[in-house]
Amino acid sequence: MSEFAGKRYVVTGAASGIGHSVAEKLLAAGAQVYSLDRNTPSAAVTSHVQVDLASPISIDAALDQLDGQFDALLNVAGIPGTAPAELVFAVNSLAVRRLTEAFLERLNPGGNIVVVSSTAGFGWPQRLDGIREFLATTTFDDGARWFNENPQEGNAYNFSKEVTTVYVMAMGLAVHELGFRINAVLPGPVQTPILADFRESMGHDTMDALETMLGRHAMPEDVADVVLFLASDAARWVNGETVTVDGGIGGAVLSGTVPMPEF
Ligand SMILES: NC(=O)c1ccc[n+]([C@@H]2O[C@H](COP(=O)([O-])OP(=O)(O)OC[C@H]3O[C@@H](n4cnc5c(N)ncnc54)[C@H](O)[C@@H]3O)[C@@H](O)[C@H]2O)c1
Repeated sequence: MSEFAGKRYVVTGAASGIGHSVAEKLLAAGAQVYSLDRNTPSAAVTSHVQVDLASPISIDAALDQLDGQFDALLNVAGIPGTAPAELVFAVNSLAVRRLTEAFLERLNPGGNIVVVSSTAGFGWPQRLDGIREFLATTTFDDGARWFNENPQEGNAYNFSKEVTTVYVMAMGLAVHELGFRINAVLPGPVQTPILADFRESMGHDTMDALETMLGRHAMPEDVADVVLFLASDAARWVNGETVTVDGGIGGAVLSGTVPMPEF
């Protein structure tokens, strides 16, 4: 029997793309899937709660509708950089933090959290001081205020994923003390509805060059399998870690084999 059978998973973004694939795989493995999304998922989830992850009030109302303890929180939902910057930061960073912290009281012993961040957040070392300043804020509203008062250069999507990547790395030890784990998956381009927006915000040439280099973009399943791995007992000593799922581009860039793509 699958280790996921009978366990309870909350999946954000389950209505589309990577989150849909995560939900389908968990359901096929006999798990219970509790969906949090603004849209209704097509997967036969155990229950669905409609939520606007850009709103802390909506997030808290959704949390009120989830009873009991869970084995993992899988934060998959996200929006692209074509949306207004404050919305991008709210959904991709502030909501991830709020949900994660709410689930520290709702996880079963040995439970874990997975966050889908992005290779678009690779620039975090250059902005670490600012990111740490943001992480010192504690509430959704204070975090939103910090973002408004500290305008960032470039695409808000990249910054939102830099923040989320650093957040996961920074939380590893704290959640270890509670008996939990937290990890991030950093996908490169994935063939989902969001990709059309990425082509707009990151450039058609960059996206085409990446696809040509690899022969294809990732499929949602390529990423979902890594989410499930991190949520599984096989990853029991992987914590505060970021796993890149990009077919090899990241390694090639970091080793100087190919130039850094322009986002
Ligand atoms: N597709 C890619 O190329 C790619 C690359 C790197 C990282 N990612 C990340 O992967 C994650 C999943 O993206 P995807 O490719 O599956 O995109 P997608 O657009 O197919 O799915 C995103 C899901 O998030 C939900 N969502 C968005 N905003 C919401 C809100 N305010 N409230 C509630 N739900 C909301 C949507 O309804 C949708 O179901 C995102 O965090 C994204 O940033 C995607």
